[in-house]
Amino acid sequence: MKKLIGPFTQILPLTGLPIKGALKDEQLHIIPNGGVLIEDGLILAVDDFEKLRSNYPSAQIEEIIGDSVLLPGFVDCHTHICFAGSRAKDYAMRNGGKTYLEIAQSGGGIWDSVTQTRAADEATLTSLLLKRIKRHVSEGVTTIEIKSGYGLSVEGELKQLNAIKAAADKTNASLISTCLAAHILPKDFNGNHQEYLNHVLNNLLPVIKQKGLSNRVDVFIEQSAFNTSDALNYLAKAKQMGFEATIHADQFTTGGSEVAIKARAASADHLEASGDYEIKLLANSDTVAVTLPGASLGLGIPYAPARKLLDAGACLAIASDWNPGSAPMGDLLMQAAVMAAAEKLSAAEVFTGLTARAAQALKLNDRGVLSKGKLADMQAYPCDDYREILYHQGKLKPDMVWMEGLKN
Ligand code: NIG
Ligand code: FE
Repeated sequence: MKKLIGPFTQILPLTGLPIKGALKDEQLHIIPNGGVLIEDGLILAVDDFEKLRSNYPSAQIEEIIGDSVLLPGFVDCHTHICFAGSRAKDYAMRNGGKTYLEIAQSGGGIWDSVTQTRAADEATLTSLLLKRIKRHVSEGVTTIEIKSGYGLSVEGELKQLNAIKAAADKTNASLISTCLAAHILPKDFNGNHQEYLNHVLNNLLPVIKQKGLSNRVDVFIEQSAFNTSDALNYLAKAKQMGFEATIHADQFTTGGSEVAIKARAASADHLEASGDYEIKLLANSDTVAVTLPGASLGLGIPYAPARKLLDAGACLAIASDWNPGSAPMGDLLMQAAVMAAAEKLSAAEVFTGLTARAAQALKLNDRGVLSKGKLADMQAYPCDDYREILYHQGKLKPDMVWMEGLKN
């Protein structure tokens, strides 16, 4: 059964834009009084509403009343929302002047979330996850990448990935899981970094593959986590096993983005410490540069050089990094809007960074724009001009969200 949704005051299909480099708002294609024709969860046509209505007279009409601006659903390509517990203590310590490393060394940090997440059973993790997914969907996010990385043992990582799989069966949002067993060296592992990564390669990744729990791996490259040569070796072997790579790169020190490019990773994420050398490397590669403004806000550190990355020609995506430690807020649109004002990003750059370019970071080419054949993942804002959305800095939320054509 065909369904025609509209009329929308404006539709921004975000089509016809290059996947890399700077964008001006003048390049945005805007359809006034638009409609979207859908069938079986896919878009059949995006055009003038009245034209679609007369061309498809038998289509069922889902009428939109009042002003409404339609965008593709957001793709949050980097989150850690499968966790239990809180790190409010860390946050207070940090605001009290302690550094990320000092907090980690005094027993807080990532290890604290590992302890709290290990203590929760799979059903508890699934229900905590579903609450966060529900909030994200209500804020227009229809595809969510979710990392493990708070288990850090075969059992703990599998519990997280199973919880993500169980959540996927209970939501219409599209969940993409990533194994982040290489988050930090677990304190209770009897061996060094290299031995731990070999343990993951030998005892965890084959099970994940066999059970179809994920086809992506992530590694945190940093002084407090894994070094570049161990990470490169790990990624090469994981790739041979059929995993796609993504990297926590250049958060505090550089080195990670170079590994991302050498390993042909789908994305290099964070990049707060990236300089001209790294910017050039990323711009000349197919690796998506993912900026995580929520982590900058949470840690009180500068944003990644988003403007410079775009001007150099990089594909820039924006993700929330929603996690219990550095980015507890999880409001993707608010974070993107606030960063846009600081970094001077156009609406076209922000919206593509939250949709098509973020989909590219996940190697998904069936979403992120509104055009024939793409998933009908969409969100509508109660306003008459797309510029209202960033102007309200994240306080204007979508009042309608569709996932594969189904209204939330
Ligand atoms: O992306 N940088 C490493 N990992 C996370 C932080 C996770 C945590 O603090 O629990 C991040 O910011
Ligand atoms: Fe992260």
